[in-house]
Amino acid sequence: ARTAAVIPAAGRGVRLGPGAPKALRPLGGTPMLIHAIRAMAASRAVSLVVVVAPPDGAAEVRTLLDAYALPERTDFLVVPGGGSRQESVKLGLDALPTGYDIVLVHDAARPLVPVDTVDAVIEAVRDGAPAVVPALPLADTVKQVEPAAAPGDPEPVVATPDRSLLRAVQTPQGFDRATLVRAHGTVTDDVTDDASMVEQLGLTVVTVPGHEEAFKVTRPLDLVLAEAVLARRRL
Ligand code: CTP
Ligand code: MG
Repeated sequence: ARTAAVIPAAGRGVRLGPGAPKALRPLGGTPMLIHAIRAMAASRAVSLVVVVAPPDGAAEVRTLLDAYALPERTDFLVVPGGGSRQESVKLGLDALPTGYDIVLVHDAARPLVPVDTVDAVIEAVRDGAPAVVPALPLADTVKQVEPAAAPGDPEPVVATPDRSLLRAVQTPQGFDRATLVRAHGTVTDDVTDDASMVEQLGLTVVTVPGHEEAFKVTRPLDLVLAEAVLARRRL
């Protein structure tokens, strides 16, 4: 079964602060998106990468791909994205040619995921799981709160879930293609990852070990960490 990777890269990056769309901002002098593409193409199993560009930025992204050296054995498609991550992933899936039975969905905002993590996800789908997520234990204790009555009001704690049963999940998330397409055709709620849509179909999602370096670049401090990880790799 051939494997394709869909990379949602259409977000603005509001939490990172003002500037270019997050995926196009430099990391070690190279756009974050290029790092993310290379991370997917580094897997021998991935033969197609579908980049979901900012809605008005598909031509710019296409130009970018031509400007950077990318593996010859990998095909690339660029499609414009939508107003939500879920919509963007759906637009990427719609552009997927036939012949790809395994689909990875990987955030452009996770530029430094190691190839071993990518391969572990693919392996678990090949072994029969309809949906696979890389997951890590949490360092922080997590509290459930009552929403504040007014902005700035205190938020009363209502529960402390058992941390040993919680996991922080990353991407790439891997799917049997038909399952992911069905999930995106059925689930209309706002979701923050693709695996939760498969859960809503009543199917079992499994985890594989995630990796610290697969963290998401969300806020300015994450960019500091990403630059440091990259500098350490280049030693
Ligand atoms: N994404 C997307 N289309 C959207 C929104 C998000 O393709 N309409 C992508 C982002 O480009 C990113 C991934 O989904 O690669 C994870 O989203 P997130 O980290 O939230 O990125 P942004 O939405 O860009 O950031 P923010 O929420 O801070 O604006
Ligand atoms: Mg977002």
